[in-house]
Amino acid sequence: MGKKLKLGVNIDHVATLRQARGTVYPDPLDAAIICARAGADGITAHLREDRRHIKDDDIYRLRELQSLPLNLEMANVESIVEIALNVCPAEVCLVPEKRQELTTEGGLDVIAHLDSIKSTVQSLTENGTQVSLFVDADEMTIAACKDTGAPVIELHTGAYCDAEPNDRGALLEQLISGAEYAHSLGLKVNAGHGINRDNLAGILCIPFLDTLNIGHSIICRSVFQSLEKAVEEMIEAMAAYDL
Ligand code: PXP
Repeated sequence: MGKKLKLGVNIDHVATLRQARGTVYPDPLDAAIICARAGADGITAHLREDRRHIKDDDIYRLRELQSLPLNLEMANVESIVEIALNVCPAEVCLVPEKRQELTTEGGLDVIAHLDSIKSTVQSLTENGTQVSLFVDADEMTIAACKDTGAPVIELHTGAYCDAEPNDRGALLEQLISGAEYAHSLGLKVNAGHGINRDNLAGILCIPFLDTLNIGHSIICRSVFQSLEKAVEEMIEAMAAYDL
């Protein structure tokens, strides 16, 4: 049996419900407290430039809470980097961001933006934050991640998770090779996007995983039962992981 696979719960969609009616509830902070009680290992929240769900205030309050480490998802843009330097979360995950997208659509183009990513990684690292880069499982991109000095990558599992079951084989192979390659470079490997209990079995075949970041499916499940139970169920399903 390998080491325990960790769960980071992305609570953006608690804020999505709040924003749908412009109310003050449900509070993402309450969700974070429940996730901690249920045994989650971390909380992820994405402060988007358009502030469509999570707001600046949520990030400061989540950081204060300290019951679980905060992984701040964000674009590599000056105004948001400034907030991250101020908040100093345990982790930052740099993601690409487009205004019109429903959710993060692809991995970061680390090769094209190497210098600027490198500089952000350096500032955040010196400030005490561990940086991960959200990327597709592509060897050249993963090699570029290493060049930025970031110690962690998060593999984008969206294409695999959204594919028809018959089309998933090759996509899973790419994720497996990507994880093996990243590990061989000494990078820590996380994974996330689109993961639910139905596609989890394939995800658990990816070697060297440290953390899965899961949001939408857990928050959806919590519509029909408690958030605590939804988190517990996911942790239980993930316990089958063997490095
Ligand atoms: N990881 C990253 C980098 C993401 O952008 C997202 C979506 O915000 C997730 C994980 C969680 O994805 P999902 O909500 O589909 O579980």
